[in-house]
Amino acid sequence: MKIKVAATTVDKGYTIQIKRGLLSEAGKIIKRITHDRIAVLTNKTVHELWYRDLHKSFKQVGLKENVIVIPDGEQYKNNRTYNRIISEMLDYGINRHSTLVTFGGGVTGDIGGFIAATYMRGIKLIHIPTSLIAQIDSSIGGKAAIDHPRAKNIIGAFYNPEYVLIDPNLLMTLPRREYINGLFEAVKIAIVRDKKLYKYICVNIDKILDRNARTVEYLVTECARLKTEIIQKDPFEKKLRMILNFGHTFGHALETAGRYNNISHGIAVGWGMLLALQLSYHYKYIDLEKCREIIDLIGKLIGRNKMPKISPENIWITMGHDKKVKNNKVRFILLEGIARPIIREIDKNSFKKALRDL
Ligand SMILES: NC(=O)c1ccc[n+]([C@@H]2O[C@H](COP(=O)([O-])OP(=O)(O)OC[C@H]3O[C@@H](n4cnc5c(N)ncnc54)[C@H](O)[C@@H]3O)[C@@H](O)[C@H]2O)c1
Ligand SMILES: [Zn+2]
Repeated sequence: MKIKVAATTVDKGYTIQIKRGLLSEAGKIIKRITHDRIAVLTNKTVHELWYRDLHKSFKQVGLKENVIVIPDGEQYKNNRTYNRIISEMLDYGINRHSTLVTFGGGVTGDIGGFIAATYMRGIKLIHIPTSLIAQIDSSIGGKAAIDHPRAKNIIGAFYNPEYVLIDPNLLMTLPRREYINGLFEAVKIAIVRDKKLYKYICVNIDKILDRNARTVEYLVTECARLKTEIIQKDPFEKKLRMILNFGHTFGHALETAGRYNNISHGIAVGWGMLLALQLSYHYKYIDLEKCREIIDLIGKLIGRNKMPKISPENIWITMGHDKKVKNNKVRFILLEGIARPIIREIDKNSFKKALRDL
């Protein structure tokens, strides 16, 4: 399936293509877009698993690429790695007319997007996302960033690619923990935006967990379509795009507070969605029956993971640092039902009570 991201006043638009086996056509697609040098940015893990296939597709159409391999991990999404990549690009003679292809998860896509936005004031960018998070979330929407020791994603830009090439088959080698991480984002977008997809996930959750190829392809396609629809309506995160923060207000704080417990982003967002549901029920926005169904689904993904031991007071302060506090209230995305998100400001006592009832 091809999803067109329409042109805006500042951008000419681009295509997101999703198909099982699409990696073998990467060379053909990229050749149509670029007529100069190509640098491929990837990480060690993805390089070992999949680079041969990408290289083969380049070779088939006579494309020659330079490859830059970075270490694996969020801790490398920083300005040291940024500078190292720039040095390699200079060594390879990458110029203003060249193209950067990112081939990896959200970390590779984010850092590569920021490189493409800034190297020689901007060069062509193509994303080939390889993790579930990258395929349904980070490669769509043009947000690119690196971390600073004091804050995550704080140095960045909005920069759109020329093309996003998504092959769901790549997800078959993703470690289970990373796959589940992405499923939380899939469930999140379905809950805030699409009844049909939400039902589909509830009915097919076992097939999804088993990574049945057709089911995964459908899920990736629908999530990518929904995210595109949202970013088209709100490219610079002024309003609508905020609904994508469902579960993230509390989730981010939990990640910060629970980092010594090594809590994953997905699980933290899972707990965040459960807390948002608790608050929605507490304020009578949603009835118990609907809540239960959603809780069951999220519970299946959380599995046996326990909520990290946290101090409600600390979490409240951490959420405050996340720019969401206004008049001593924190802004949460709550639910009136599936595809009916609302934004509400919550006071500390209600938050603490919801947390106790979790
Ligand atoms: N730009 C955005 O809008 C946006 C949105 C969400 C997340 N993000 C960013 O994305 C990052 C998280 O993304 P992520 O979870 O993909 O992280 P990641 O890039 O670290 O990938 C997760 C792990 O999966 C491995 N991996 C990736 N593809 C694989 C494959 N096909 N087979 C085997 N292993 C594979 C990676 O090597 C890594 O170990 C964070 O830095 C976050 O800030 C950005
Ligand atoms: Zn997230």
